[in-house]
Amino acid sequence: MNSTLQQPRHVAIIMDGNGRWARQKGKPRAFGHQAGFHNTRDIVEACGRRQLEALTLFAFSSENWRRPAKEVGLLMDLFLRALKSEVGKLNDNKVQIQFIGERSAFSDKLQKQMIHAEELTKNNQGLRLAIAVNYGGRWDIVNATRLIAEQVKRGELQPQDITADTLSGNISLAGLPEPDLFIRTGGEKRISNYLLWHLAYTELYFTDVLWPSFDESELDKALTFFGGRERRYGRTGDQVAEKNA
Ligand code: IPE
Ligand code: IPE
Ligand code: MG
Repeated sequence: MNSTLQQPRHVAIIMDGNGRWARQKGKPRAFGHQAGFHNTRDIVEACGRRQLEALTLFAFSSENWRRPAKEVGLLMDLFLRALKSEVGKLNDNKVQIQFIGERSAFSDKLQKQMIHAEELTKNNQGLRLAIAVNYGGRWDIVNATRLIAEQVKRGELQPQDITADTLSGNISLAGLPEPDLFIRTGGEKRISNYLLWHLAYTELYFTDVLWPSFDESELDKALTFFGGRERRYGRTGDQVAEKNA
């Protein structure tokens, strides 16, 4: 990769296409999820090597409960096994882990593993890895609104003092820079209720490559795409060029 290109601080990924990847190989969907998990591990490491500050991964959406119970159960098992097997190594690599989403829907065992992973890694100074589980962008905005309403009710905040920063401060990933680059694998060009609030000015990259095949060279293609973007935030190209001169 050309090291002179601008690099994103925060990348957010929708890891889609496990099922189709398996079907192409004549295998059950479970096989695709297993391969997807192995790929996730590789991409997290690759992001660490590229010294990204933050990586947010969509692992299970609030709508994925609509899948057949067998597939949901399998994803939960895989998730629990992955947590048990990976957290030690992530900790060794100084990764700081957090989970975002409505976690009360998960089993006690899984919730305990999540807390354990967060506690163990909370002081790490390396890659900040957020894993979105039972996450929905609308849920996140509703939840932040509720938190803000409670502050108003307690008299800590006046309604006229509520700004976009107030919402950013109460929503998931508060404290992280907003994602600079969004990647969706698997060919669909939609957001699927991912980080609706956070993606306001994120650069969007879509690829047909299915998640288990999205390797380091594909990651570099996305980073190169990002490197060529001019981020104007409403200004003109001339203004941006002047500022960068
Ligand atoms: C993404 O792959 C993984 C999860 C949503 C958990 P899919 O399972 O959605 O794979 P496709 O889209 O059916 O190929
Ligand atoms: C989005 O993928 C959620 C995750 C990757 C976890 P889906 O496969 O669930 O998205 P839709 O249903 O095709 O929009
Ligand atoms: Mg899918």
